[in-house]
Amino acid sequence: MKKIVIAIDGFSGCGKSSTAKAVAKTLNYTYIDSGAMYRAVTLHFINSFTNLTNPKEVLKALSTLKIEFHKNEETGFQETYLNGLNVEKQIRTMKVSERVSEVSKLKDVRQELVAQQKRLGRHKGVVMDGRDIGTVVFPDADLKVFMTADLIIRAERRQQELLEKGDLVELDKIVHNLGERDRIDSSRDISPLKKADDAVEIDTSYLDFDDQVTQIVKLAKEKI
Ligand code: C5P
Repeated sequence: MKKIVIAIDGFSGCGKSSTAKAVAKTLNYTYIDSGAMYRAVTLHFINSFTNLTNPKEVLKALSTLKIEFHKNEETGFQETYLNGLNVEKQIRTMKVSERVSEVSKLKDVRQELVAQQKRLGRHKGVVMDGRDIGTVVFPDADLKVFMTADLIIRAERRQQELLEKGDLVELDKIVHNLGERDRIDSSRDISPLKKADDAVEIDTSYLDFDDQVTQIVKLAKEKI
């Protein structure tokens, strides 16, 4: 059976990752969380006190960075490793969420991560989610999906996810963070967040999770 590339882009907190994971599982594809890579770089920069306005420091920090994904045998899902350490929990904290869009604007960071993402998807059979997957990383992706949802609904879902990890965060703080990230991600000069012309748009505000997965799997099967 033909293997394809599925690109899922969209605003922060629309459920791209959970949807992409479920689609990958159904199709027996590899799921790649490109946002986790930008988050891991951000954590690395925070830990190394990298000055984002100094390109030499940014390049130096990037040269000492190794991001890997390893499967957690208990959950069956990939987890993010930074220089050999499992950082899956740390990269999801507000501390990282509040800095990640500033880091993702940097040319050198994007160049490095886009190259890694292209390598990760070169054998196809992947579902990758992010902001520029259908426009820049895989402009020839066989299936492109662009996910949106109402900001308050997204924030409530994110609050619940954080709570499940034992992190109680005020709704206002999450609304502000999602809105700010969308603003910075959509207005940056290099590969801004935007819907690819040939992407199928799905508004998940009032969609049942299983329905949105089924919808994407159906679209994928039409291409396989
Ligand atoms: O997907 P997630 O919300 O974890 O992404 C975190 C941040 O990483 C985004 O707000 C954005 O700044 C950046 N990102 C990006 N390009 C991607 C994926 C994520 O700029 N392909």
